[in-house]
Amino acid sequence: MAEDLIISTNLNKESQYISLIPQIKALITGEDDMIANLANIAAALKEQFAWFWVGFYLVKGDELVLGPFQGPVACTRIKKGKGVCGAAWQQDETLIVPDVDQFPGHIACASASRSEIVLPLHRGQEVIGVLDVDSEYLSHFDEVDAKYLKEIINLISGY
Ligand code: SME
Repeated sequence: MAEDLIISTNLNKESQYISLIPQIKALITGEDDMIANLANIAAALKEQFAWFWVGFYLVKGDELVLGPFQGPVACTRIKKGKGVCGAAWQQDETLIVPDVDQFPGHIACASASRSEIVLPLHRGQEVIGVLDVDSEYLSHFDEVDAKYLKEIINLISGY
């Protein structure tokens, strides 16, 4: 399999997701190692969207522990209910935060981060981690991101 992605920056956001998703599917098809697949998903999203930070935290006991990511170094452990990631885990909900300074308890791993989207990752009914995307721009994420990022993480929720 060719590992080069076809990156389409001249399209609108929705079309960029539509072009990327089959490529992500192809990348992870036939590979059952979740960490390898999460690593390639983070890399593919970073390559397509050039977000400030994109990556996964995985549930270990009562904490989220940093998993595969792309971007600057980040906080290693987040308690359940803490920050946007811990809240998305606890509430089992996608959280879109247009201005992280307005989110009570936001964990600032990097001061450059201004807005964020976090989606829970499931195995069956259980939350096994979160996908976290951070932007240096305010109000960078919306329902389009929520819809397509959910499709992407559903690709790996079978593990
Ligand atoms: N801001 C997140 C923490 C993770 S980092 O930004 C990579 C939060 O509040 O959960």
